[in-house]
Amino acid sequence: MPLELVQGDIAAQTTCAVTTAANAQLMGGGGVDGVIHRAAGPDLLRAIRQLGGTPTGTAVITPAFNLGAQGVKYVIHAVGPIWNGGHNGEADLLAGAYHASLRLAVEHSCDSVAVPAISTGVYGYPLPEAAAVTVGAITAFLAEHPALHVRVVLYDGGTLNVFRRALQKLGA
Ligand code: APR
Repeated sequence: MPLELVQGDIAAQTTCAVTTAANAQLMGGGGVDGVIHRAAGPDLLRAIRQLGGTPTGTAVITPAFNLGAQGVKYVIHAVGPIWNGGHNGEADLLAGAYHASLRLAVEHSCDSVAVPAISTGVYGYPLPEAAAVTVGAITAFLAEHPALHVRVVLYDGGTLNVFRRALQKLGA
């Protein structure tokens, strides 16, 4: 199944690419970004700092460094929006962050990519709204790229259930 929802740790995945929830300055952070950077090692931070930054709603790609030991080739650094009430382009920016991530995976010949629930932590995006945008954006991308396997990795069971409901609503 090209879109899979699982409960787990994003840094423990063995997909070709793993996406982290970064900030526009690409300065490294906590949450998902913290666990990815700890697993990949300090070379990852050096690599993204060289890139300088990337706008909200976009993504950049680097090698996976120490995550290569578990088969991951690339880390994709996606920048989701900070929630600001919902009428400030948040949905388009969140969809853009996923679309850019999946496009980079395909452009680098990956057949699989793991993604977290971008913007739902420090950036405060309400979970049901984020889940709907996320599964919508991924499903739309997969309609054009059916060979890609996308695994959405949710940290806890409650979040997984919210994403399952969003996928059911979509009829996927
Ligand atoms: N695996 C999977 N998901 C996780 C993990 C993990 N190991 N740890 C946390 N999460 C979940 C959180 O529960 C949340 O639902 O990932 C989601 C995203 O949370 P954040 O990492 O806070 O990402 P985001 O809301 O996009 O905020 C990005 O936080 O770390 C900084 O530099 C980063 O400024 C940026 C901001």
